[in-house]
Amino acid sequence: MTRPNQLPAWQALVQHQRDVADVHMRDLFAQDPQRFEKFSLCFGDFLFDYSKNRITGETLGLLLDLARQTQLADKIAAMFRGDRINVTESRAVLHVALRNRANRPILLDGEDVMPEVNRVLAKMRAFVEQVRSCQWRGCTGKPMTDVVNIGIGGSDLGPRMVVQALTPYTTPALRVHFVSNVDEADLMQVLQGLDPETTLFSIVSKTFTTQETMTNAQSARDWLLSHAKDPAAVARHFIAISTNAKKVAEFGIDTKNMFEFWDWVGGRYSLWSAVGLSIALAIGMTRFEAMLTGAFRVDEHFRNEPFERNIPVLMGLIGIWYDNFFHTDSYAILPYDQHLEFLPSYLQQGDMESNGKTVDLEGRRVDYTTGPIIFGQPGTNGQHAFYQLMHQGSELIPCDFLAAAKSHHGLGRHHEILISNFLAQPEALMRGKTYEEAKAELMAEGVTGERLEELAAAKTFTGNRPSNSFLYKKLTPETLGSLIALYEHKIFVQGAIWNINSFDQMGVELGKQLAKTILAELAGEQEAIIHDSSTTGLLEHYKRLR
Ligand code: F6P
Repeated sequence: MTRPNQLPAWQALVQHQRDVADVHMRDLFAQDPQRFEKFSLCFGDFLFDYSKNRITGETLGLLLDLARQTQLADKIAAMFRGDRINVTESRAVLHVALRNRANRPILLDGEDVMPEVNRVLAKMRAFVEQVRSCQWRGCTGKPMTDVVNIGIGGSDLGPRMVVQALTPYTTPALRVHFVSNVDEADLMQVLQGLDPETTLFSIVSKTFTTQETMTNAQSARDWLLSHAKDPAAVARHFIAISTNAKKVAEFGIDTKNMFEFWDWVGGRYSLWSAVGLSIALAIGMTRFEAMLTGAFRVDEHFRNEPFERNIPVLMGLIGIWYDNFFHTDSYAILPYDQHLEFLPSYLQQGDMESNGKTVDLEGRRVDYTTGPIIFGQPGTNGQHAFYQLMHQGSELIPCDFLAAAKSHHGLGRHHEILISNFLAQPEALMRGKTYEEAKAELMAEGVTGERLEELAAAKTFTGNRPSNSFLYKKLTPETLGSLIALYEHKIFVQGAIWNINSFDQMGVELGKQLAKTILAELAGEQEAIIHDSSTTGLLEHYKRLR
């Protein structure tokens, strides 16, 4: 496979970037009254506005050429077909099967995966109904009031983000909590105030070997048994979500209480599987399935829509335009929707674990930039924290603004104020403020002389800072499903163009290996090994302090 940066479209984009680098979006808007119509798309009740980008029709044409020259269409088809596109682990990548609401057969090694997908969905439904209708009883006969999801990474961030996002659809009768960090403070804080007789622990781990999750699960079991005294209580208070039945049984969880998923579901793409059980417990199975439907609609759009009207393809290409041609390093996710508080952290794993790679599919070191640093915070909080750098700093930071037209609560003018900020920030980033405008404002305030010159310089905003805006009607389960799927496919598009494997995560292994060795050293189970002097110094200091 030719490296993407050696393709004609890439070379043309390098030249094109030089040509348009000094073009200001203010002028592009002024020259073309149709710019918004040209560079925005509707999908259901979603509006995707990408007109505030440093693009012209020619830019898009070249980016679409790049998509074609990197065989993006074939790569999309290969994923949906169940090819083993995760080549290092020799696995298919079929999270799309989990929300295949058309129930079309998807063959993996000649066998349709859909009957298994549907079987687990039915098992989830039966269990969720039992718990939510209080038929599932704890070891002393009481119904469950609290669910604790113990998992980390993909076994935590997705369900945590969705449960928070869909809070208006949850019931106070069944509270869902999340524990991920091996730091005891995380588990202790959640257990405080919980009643072991009415608490259900959901241990979520694809491998069922992850150190943090297993340590938390063990301590949660000790906590339960210190109250219940009878090991039989575990069967009423522990369920497992995993691909590893053997390890689940070894831990002591009855495999009847295990909800399976499969090696073709990547951790960070797993919230659609049984990993989403805590979501379904929080909002009910029907709403969980509505979320699957929202994602399925986007899957259909992604597979079938021509690239020039394909939202995830455009999201991916616009990101590449900045990463590889403007050499930006980061990307901000800015939900003007408090319920999406955890979306930036969720997408940090989704994007950075997927595309944080420097070796391509042929095993060659890449000589172009891959995934950006993802960060963000809900608006308006971010405005009072890091937006200063976005408006006037030396870095160019492309970003996504997201907002719902309707709020869930309708409290006074809150929502309108929020939306005015959602509209103002992308406008300010795009337009900026010229020196002359700043000066005129100051003169109107009576500032004169040297002070005027100084202040006008400090108050000048270059503008020309790009953003996308997503506006949807209301954050419902279906809308959220669509939104997540849009980002999943954006990440896919970028990985495909960069010719990297977006579906392994070898980079997290080295730290895990070293921590195991150090843990054995700390426990005196292993002779001290030779570390660098910094690690040895820290270790010795820790021993003196502990
Ligand atoms: O360490 C990274 C990782 O493997 C993630 O990809 C994954 O989501 C997380 O750990 C948790 O893994 P598991 O579900 O197997 O416990």
